[in-house]
Amino acid sequence: MRPRPDRIERLPQQYFTTLLARVLAAGQDVIDVGRGNPDVPPPPHVVEALVDSARDPTAAVHGYPPFAGLRRVKEAIAERYASVYGVELDPDREVALLPGTTTALVELALVLAGRGTRILLPDPGYPDYNSAVALAGAERVALPLAADGRPEWDAAPREHVAAVYLNYPANPAAVAAPPGVFEEAIAFAEETGAAIVHDFAYGDLVFDGRESKSFLATPGAKDVGVEMFSMSKSYGMAGWRVGFVVGNAEIVERINLLNDHCRVGIFRPIQEACIAALTGPQDSVAERRDTYQRRRDRVIEVLGPQTCEGTFYIWLKLPEGVTAESILTEHRVVLAPGEGFGPSGAGYARLSLAVSDETLELGLERLATAFEAAG
Ligand SMILES: Cc1ncc(COP(=O)(O)O)c(C=O)c1O
Repeated sequence: MRPRPDRIERLPQQYFTTLLARVLAAGQDVIDVGRGNPDVPPPPHVVEALVDSARDPTAAVHGYPPFAGLRRVKEAIAERYASVYGVELDPDREVALLPGTTTALVELALVLAGRGTRILLPDPGYPDYNSAVALAGAERVALPLAADGRPEWDAAPREHVAAVYLNYPANPAAVAAPPGVFEEAIAFAEETGAAIVHDFAYGDLVFDGRESKSFLATPGAKDVGVEMFSMSKSYGMAGWRVGFVVGNAEIVERINLLNDHCRVGIFRPIQEACIAALTGPQDSVAERRDTYQRRRDRVIEVLGPQTCEGTFYIWLKLPEGVTAESILTEHRVVLAPGEGFGPSGAGYARLSLAVSDETLELGLERLATAFEAAG
């Protein structure tokens, strides 16, 4: 057997691969409400833009695209940031195009951190951040979140912190950004020299009339950090693999440099589809948000009060003696086990609203039985 380099040895178990294997191993009659794979397709005009572009036989479409992306797609995201979040972005210096924010969150760790440095990760938080820290060779430090989703900054180390990852609306805690949290993050960055990486993957999925709040709209944000914007959740384009890193010009430049070395741009029809999505009618975004909100309300109706201010998840506190594993074996429902989301995840499981209404109903019926049986 060939020796495995350190960086491969360091990689944690991939949480979602393991979860999928769990679903497959569980057999036919299970109800999967664990995974967050958007079930509502992209709007038709976005698909048409992709197809129209792909029909053009020229090398401008099928040849290598400009490595750093079309200027028009970067202008489109800048326009959206200006009109929706009130944030001015320079398309040339403050926008990087990437194949999805999973890639972005790994690349950001690679360009910001290395051995001897730390990255603070929200606890509970998105499991893929762990992979990013491991690949960068940095040390992972849990940053506990209070019940309102605010990081417990006092518990955080101040030395050798290369980056802090934050995520609002938060997966899995399902809270929107609490007031003042971005100001606190900027103050921490100014004190410690850390970069702030804000994961805005669920930016458009906030409920009950809440405003979608970009980190970059906070004064001083661009001096200390960047935001990741994903096309996956707002437009149902998860399989298309496309997203952005926007904000601090120096960090964006490093991302573009890394991309020059290990990626060769994004297929042009996907970029054309992004432009259509970002600049075309936005009613599908509101419809999608309303669908998830309606499903959230249904969960509350069946299982009782739950915090869910945004995203398409519910962070379920499990009754005493109940685990995701016992719910799977005894009630045939797959939930995402809380332990994989950080040290504070024990006793919790994540329920996904990104499933059909029928699947959700079946899952809720079984979960209600499981919760009742537990008293
Ligand atoms: C919090 C969070 N960040 C990032 C991502 C990755 O999104 P994508 O790679 O599809 O842009 C996800 C996907 O589920 C997520 O939940």
